[in-house]
Amino acid sequence: MEHIYFSKQKNKLILLDQRYLPLKEEWFECSDTKDVVYALQEMVVRGAPAIGVSAAYGCVLAAMEVQSINDWQKALNIKTRQIAESRPTAANLAWAVKAMTDAIKDKYFASSLEMADFWLEQALEIHAQDIRINKIMGGYGADLLNDGDTVMTHCNAGALATGGYGTALGVVRAAVEQGKKIRVIANETRPFLQGARLTAYELVRDGIDVVVACDNACAHLMQKGLVDKVIVGADRIAANGDVANKIGTYGVALAADRHGIPFYVAAPFSTFDREVLSGDLIPIENRTPDEVRFINNVSILPQGVEVYNFAFDITPAELITGIITEKGILKKPFERSIAENR
Ligand code: MRU
Repeated sequence: MEHIYFSKQKNKLILLDQRYLPLKEEWFECSDTKDVVYALQEMVVRGAPAIGVSAAYGCVLAAMEVQSINDWQKALNIKTRQIAESRPTAANLAWAVKAMTDAIKDKYFASSLEMADFWLEQALEIHAQDIRINKIMGGYGADLLNDGDTVMTHCNAGALATGGYGTALGVVRAAVEQGKKIRVIANETRPFLQGARLTAYELVRDGIDVVVACDNACAHLMQKGLVDKVIVGADRIAANGDVANKIGTYGVALAADRHGIPFYVAAPFSTFDREVLSGDLIPIENRTPDEVRFINNVSILPQGVEVYNFAFDITPAELITGIITEKGILKKPFERSIAENR
């Protein structure tokens, strides 16, 4: 399913609204920068590579929006920065905006609309490239899975979290395409429920065996021998291999380590941030307490109780067995394998 696309007829970025899945398939239309920033912040679209792809299309809308402004280049800079800064953790967001601005260096455009046409081609290519890369990663990762394996995943690192196909779920999809029988345990992923709502939705649609478990069942399931491998996605990977991913990932990695279960991360190079030397330097998004406080608009907490709602955590490199990328599987020491693969 194409869940992100640019309509040339409407001059709009159209997104499958992930807030309402799996209950209803509603489409959210972005006409300008403000809509794109809203869609990113409110998680109409989420998942690091999907955020990057949407941001690239968002730049096209920004270029259209400034057409009647005299100093349109300056106005455009402000708008693209707003897009790049809309969420702090996923490296793909700033990466995509930089890829768009790098593409116009040393080029002359008579108007912002001319630039928007050029940028649309760039955004389409970033989108197509993300899908190609996911399929390549899937091929490498699938070789790690045996017929009959049960793979635990956390959050949603599937087609919905990317341009299409998925990173962690791309590996599962590729293994299934190879004819292997794979069962996925989707941790439900409080509070936004990416695992229960989105991972399960995608896998059911594809006919891939999926079972949903509460986040707090993870260690128990491992102890019972029900998990063969863990594969997760990533929002940002530091130069030393520390991985920022959805809150709860660190706990899954600790439990996997305790039970001798291989723990893999699948991510494209657009998720690596070599400027950041270690995980403690990665900015962690702190989201509104209301996401934890309310379930279906009903408060589940006593009045006035404080809430922690960190959206991501850091899994130290030492807990990671390998990082599946489009250039193969990176092994420890990650400082070296990351530096060698640019
Ligand atoms: O807050 P989200 O839903 O944007 O967080 C998404 C994740 O943490 C994913 O696991 C990550 O982006 C990898 S997506 C291929």
